[in-house]
Amino acid sequence: MTVSSAPGKVYLFGEHAVVYGEPAVPCAVERRATVTVSAREDDHVRVRAEDLSLNGFTVEYRGSTGDRPDVDVPAPLVEAAMGYIDAAVDEARDAADAPDAGFDITVESDIPLGAGLGSSAAVVVAGIDAATRELGVELAPREIAERAYRAEHEVQDGQASRADTFCSAMGGAVRVEGDDCRTIDAPPLPFVIGFDGGAGDTGALVSGVRALREEYDFAADTVSTVGDVVRRGEELLAEAVPDADEPSEELLSELGRFMNFNHGLLEALGVSSRSLDSMVWAAREAGAYGAKLTGAGGGGCIVSLDPTPETQTALRFTPGCEDAFRAELATEGVRVEVPPGAEVDAEGDSEPDRGDSA
Ligand code: PMV
Repeated sequence: MTVSSAPGKVYLFGEHAVVYGEPAVPCAVERRATVTVSAREDDHVRVRAEDLSLNGFTVEYRGSTGDRPDVDVPAPLVEAAMGYIDAAVDEARDAADAPDAGFDITVESDIPLGAGLGSSAAVVVAGIDAATRELGVELAPREIAERAYRAEHEVQDGQASRADTFCSAMGGAVRVEGDDCRTIDAPPLPFVIGFDGGAGDTGALVSGVRALREEYDFAADTVSTVGDVVRRGEELLAEAVPDADEPSEELLSELGRFMNFNHGLLEALGVSSRSLDSMVWAAREAGAYGAKLTGAGGGGCIVSLDPTPETQTALRFTPGCEDAFRAELATEGVRVEVPPGAEVDAEGDSEPDRGDSA
């Protein structure tokens, strides 16, 4: 049995504009998807998913990608979740050169699905890592990122950027510009996330921005202005004292101002919503340094910067906000977890149990 986990992410800056070649800075956050994989003796795949919240539905099912899962939510939603797992399994089989490998897979995630926090990327990244390790192959995080991107690209009909998968695999703050993906230094930023319980339709929102950009020069300028904000934000991070325990007040206040600016530009591009705007304003009024929507928009999550408990408390009382939580910057990307019941030796080190997988 192999257990791997991978973090979700927020966009500090740059969603949507990244689709047109501008840079973006996503940051991994300590909300993880955990995937447990046991190799089977046959070539079947059985999937059990727990705690997956899809577009406001809670889905609990047992089944296999071959059989119809027994659930009472619309089939397309289940197929979407199963599609990511299928694609991850295909990538793992390919990486391990084991086209007929079968697996029992359990997915658990505390990342709201489709809400701008990179839930599907985290499931795909952790799934590829666990399944390849289970077959005796250890991939570097960069290769997992590449394979996870291919998997998402396939499931999302070509509508995926590398941001989510690269960030989830590598952890920390990253910079993505087209195919160029790098990790960058960032201090531990005090993220507070508000979730409206819903999700936007990424494909429709991306198409909406594309149409605006084609029709109006000022919309195209708005997209490139997002890129300018991202570049200035990156400069701030690069100038920050590396390895500082806490980010300075000056840094937080400038980053927050840029986040506010970025949100305004996204709002102008038509991808915010009443609930996202009201959470953004609640955060700002509670004293957050800045707040913006994260991800495709239309519904889902906002991210704000506040080291105090004020923003989280205010969001909890904000109409339209279903959940508010603090999420530390996840410095670790994909990682192996110790499976439940693994042996602990005399030094206290845990030995993952890989022997009884079939
Ligand atoms: O909602 P998310 O986390 O999948 O983010 C979408 C980000 C976009 O820039 C709108 C699209 C993309 O693939 O980069």
